[in-house]
This record gives sequence, structure tokens and C-alpha cells, in this order.
Amino acid sequence: MTDRQRGPQLGLERGKVFPASHARSLLNPARRLVQSPRRTVAAIGLGPDARVLELGCGPGFFSPLLVRATQGPVVLFDLQLEMLRIARDRVRFAPGAACLQGDGSRLPLGNSSLDAVFIATVLGEIPDQAGCLEEVRRVLRPGGTFAVSETRRDSDFIALRTLTELVASHGFELAGVKGFRWQYVALFRPN
Ligand SMILES: C[S@@+](CC[C@H](N)C(=O)[O-])C[C@H]1O[C@@H](n2cnc3c(N)ncnc32)[C@H](O)[C@@H]1O
Repeated sequence: MTDRQRGPQLGLERGKVFPASHARSLLNPARRLVQSPRRTVAAIGLGPDARVLELGCGPGFFSPLLVRATQGPVVLFDLQLEMLRIARDRVRFAPGAACLQGDGSRLPLGNSSLDAVFIATVLGEIPDQAGCLEEVRRVLRPGGTFAVSETRRDSDFIALRTLTELVASHGFELAGVKGFRWQYVALFRPN
């Protein structure tokens, strides 16, 4: 049986998919003090009509601020339906928000159809990182923004240098970094 047939390996350990049964811990208000959604979303620098994908939105810790930051459509995307249900409740009055379930290494979105892709504490959980980054590259328009938020509090933390090398090998260049070495938002542009 292949990994795909077996389904995602859920767990809190490194490399496993963060389980929806622990979704509430991602919404703990104390998290705002260390990984502020306001500062994180502001760091992406979205235009007023930006079309945005939040890849691996989980229960939507960042999503309400994200949908408020643009008049354009925002796709909340996650592997787990249970995560999306919680995220959807948190953005239910936002007309431009849509929820989609799927695997980040096979995005059901058109080529160059987005202005920004935002991914927070997810990449380390994705077994096919190369496939996911190729997909992000495909769906972003030229000059679009790929924003990656990482925190060392997450068991799947990716250091900035490692992330930059990984993302650069899939056709992006680093355009800016906000935050610290242990907690940052890195902005990449397709090259
Ligand atoms: C640690 S949680 C982070 C959730 C949210 N970004 C946050 O910071 O609160 C990781 C999320 O990524 C999702 N995820 C993991 N692998 C994925 C994949 N291959 N495709 C889409 N989502 C995935 C999980 O289901 C989970 O909701």
C-alpha cells in the first residue's frame, strides 16, 4: 500500500499532520502574543483586491484577519475537513471566502490565478514539499507573493536559511523577511 492510499499520518511529532482533534490549541488566545495574526497578515502586504490562498489554514487562526485584509477572493485550503469546518465558522460573514479540502501538493486552482499564497507552520508537515512548492509557483501570478510564516514553537519549524534554499530551488527568490530568526514571515517572489 502506498503512502497516499494509507492517508496522512496524524500526530504532534515532527513530520506528522497536526490533528484536527487538537485544533483548539492552535486558536489559544495566548498564541496571539507570540505570533500575532495582525502583524503576520500585515507583513504579507496584500493589495486591496488581492486574490489569496491560505494553504493549510487549519482552524483559521489567521483567516479572519486575512479575509479582512482584501476585497478579493480568499481560498482557505486544508487537508482536513474538520479543520476547515472550524475555519469556515470563523470567517462566515466574509463574502469572498471559500473553503476547499485537498492536498497542497495538488492544488485545484488555475495557473497564475492568485496574487498571494500564505502558508503558516505547514510546510514541514507536507511529505511532498517539492510538489507543493511547484504548485504554489504554478498558481501564483508573475510578481505575486509567497508568504511563509514559521515559529520555533512548532515541532515542524523550518529555519529561514533552510527554507530559503528549499523555496529558491523551485523558482522563487527571497524578497523580504519580517520578524526574528526563531519566528518570522518570509516573502518570496517567483523569478
Ligand atoms: C500546524 S497546523 C497549522 C494551521 C494554521 N496554518 C495555523 O498556523 O494555525 C498545520 C495544518 O496544515 C494542514 N496540512 C498538513 N499537510 C497538508 C497538505 N498536504 N495539504 C494541505 N494541508 C495540509 C493540516 O491539516 C493542519 O491543519
